[in-house]
Amino acid sequence: MSFKAPDEHDSRRTQGANTAPASADSHLAGEKGKSLPRQEAFAPVPVHHLVHGGPECDPVTPVREADPSRPFVVAQLGQSLDGRIATVSGESRWINGAGALDHLHALRAAVDAVVVGVGTVLADDPRLDVRRTEGRSPARVIIDPRNRMPAGCRCLRDDGVRRFVIRGEPSDAIVGVEEVIVSQQDGSLAPAAVVAALFERGMRRILVEGGAATISRFMDAGCVDRLHVLVAPLILGSGKPGLDMRPVEALGMARRPATRIHVLGGSDVLFDCDMRQGH
Ligand SMILES: NC(=O)c1ccc[n+]([C@@H]2O[C@H](COP(=O)([O-])OP(=O)(O)OC[C@H]3O[C@@H](n4cnc5c(N)ncnc54)[C@H](OP(=O)(O)O)[C@@H]3O)[C@@H](O)[C@H]2O)c1
Repeated sequence: MSFKAPDEHDSRRTQGANTAPASADSHLAGEKGKSLPRQEAFAPVPVHHLVHGGPECDPVTPVREADPSRPFVVAQLGQSLDGRIATVSGESRWINGAGALDHLHALRAAVDAVVVGVGTVLADDPRLDVRRTEGRSPARVIIDPRNRMPAGCRCLRDDGVRRFVIRGEPSDAIVGVEEVIVSQQDGSLAPAAVVAALFERGMRRILVEGGAATISRFMDAGCVDRLHVLVAPLILGSGKPGLDMRPVEALGMARRPATRIHVLGGSDVLFDCDMRQGH
């Protein structure tokens, strides 16, 4: 089940449609006995219309149908109502419910490569493969500039899938794992260089799965085409925030991407944000 947040045009049309009919009840008393239309007193809130089913409502479709001639990056964050992706001790399993996990696996099945920072490998030792849906597992990419990845971590196991480690300079070779060296800026590996290096190696659709530091760097660099925020009805009240980006100086400078909203099974809500559309 999904519904589209109204754009400006929809919002105006909806407000018009919802204007209270002219009647004695729809007018408020004004000065000297004159009445004011209800619309001038307060604007009605636009109604969000639910849209059911259909491939056009599948939030993975834009990923599957992305233009193959250029890289396409989708990032995902599974978070609580208060915007946390892990507890203070780093525990994140499981903030989200079954519907959100199914969605994550569908995303993995739709991309060529899944990228995580080494912090996620250290915290979760994820497998990063496709298990909850049909489809082949993507290549696995770990950004590990300081060679902190533990030997024997599950995402580097040899199961026939390509594996990459991204570094700023050559380090110890790992058997069967492709080392990719990308340029550094201010001690950080440039996300655009990571995307370009993966694209050169045939990775056109890329999922940045976490964690917070990695996704925030990709967002700050303008390297995310689509951001999927999966919100679970859970309040942590403390813990790791989902995004920690460069500060904006004023509310007007905040990003307002064009967004579709999907209610997933298990009561999580997906905000599918098109970072190339909106303000
Ligand atoms: N709920 C979710 O959706 C979700 C998903 C994934 C992870 N998580 C949680 O998130 C937490 C981990 O997140 P995190 O923010 O601590 O770590 P992270 O983003 O997984 O990894 C960050 C580290 O990766 C390296 N790195 C990533 N991008 C880099 C770049 N452009 N340039 C240089 N280095 C880069 C750096 O390693 P160095 O420090 O070695 O320089 C950086 O400190 C865990 O608690 C995990 O459970 C939650």
